[in-house]
Amino acid sequence: MKRLLIMLTPAAMLVLAAPFATAQESQTPPSQAVDTTKGLSEWDKIYAVFSHPRCADCHVADDRPRWSGAHYGGTRVHAFNIQRGTDGSGFGNPGLRCTTCHFASNSNELHGPPGAENWRLAPAEMAWFGKSSAEICTEIKDPERNGGRSSDDIALHVRDDRLVGWGWAPGSTREPAPGSAEATFQAIENWMAVGSPCPVP
Ligand code: HEC
Ligand code: HEC
Repeated sequence: MKRLLIMLTPAAMLVLAAPFATAQESQTPPSQAVDTTKGLSEWDKIYAVFSHPRCADCHVADDRPRWSGAHYGGTRVHAFNIQRGTDGSGFGNPGLRCTTCHFASNSNELHGPPGAENWRLAPAEMAWFGKSSAEICTEIKDPERNGGRSSDDIALHVRDDRLVGWGWAPGSTREPAPGSAEATFQAIENWMAVGSPCPVP
């Protein structure tokens, strides 16, 4: 450290110190200026995915998965009195677990159960069904409600998780979520790079 300091001219030290001072004042690294217009247009792409029936049907605030979108001819709660589960796991009640019907891959029948490994409801605090764009945006940035994830973790979860991936390959006549996992990952990266702005409620 001592040797490094000797090698630096006072001018170079000022340059090195400058970004630190800026970061302290604005809480945002200088390379990460908030560009609200670009950020909100990236957010719109993310919201179109998160609020899509293929995602929101599992991300509900109450205990009932939803059947919504054109394939279901409207919006209703899951048939067969399916519940989140008294243990809060999202896997359903003992005796009627999700995995009784939902296997690791989609049924080939028109109204057969779709499938992906560990099919279950998302925790209630990760609820997007019926929520506004502003609400979903603040929610996914809140570690208390997103499983303690950084925005980077969320981008990676969207790119790599199998339940998320199912949203683009839902089987039967179900409409897939817009775009792709990779495109949504990229939209989240672009949104973060300009300061992750949220729409005003
Ligand atoms: C079969 C139900 C199911 C489907 C369908 C589903 N999810 Fe999830 N999702 C979950 C579960 C369960 C968790 C909690 C996983 C965890 O915390 O490890 C979760 C967590 C998440 C998280 C991290 C937590 C958060 O709130 O930020 C993101 C992001 C996410 N899902 C995105 C999506 C997207 C995007 C889609 C649609 C393309 C989707 N999910 C479809 C069940 C589902
Ligand atoms: C008795 C069998 C059965 C059980 C148990 C069951 N499901 Fe289903 N589920 C189905 C069938 C069948 C469909 C597809 C209906 C259709 O395509 O018309 C379905 C569809 C769904 C959908 C809609 C996906 C979409 O297209 O957006 C979700 C979400 C869902 N189930 C979640 C769950 C969860 C979570 C559990 C456990 C808490 C569960 N299901 C338990 C049979 C079941």
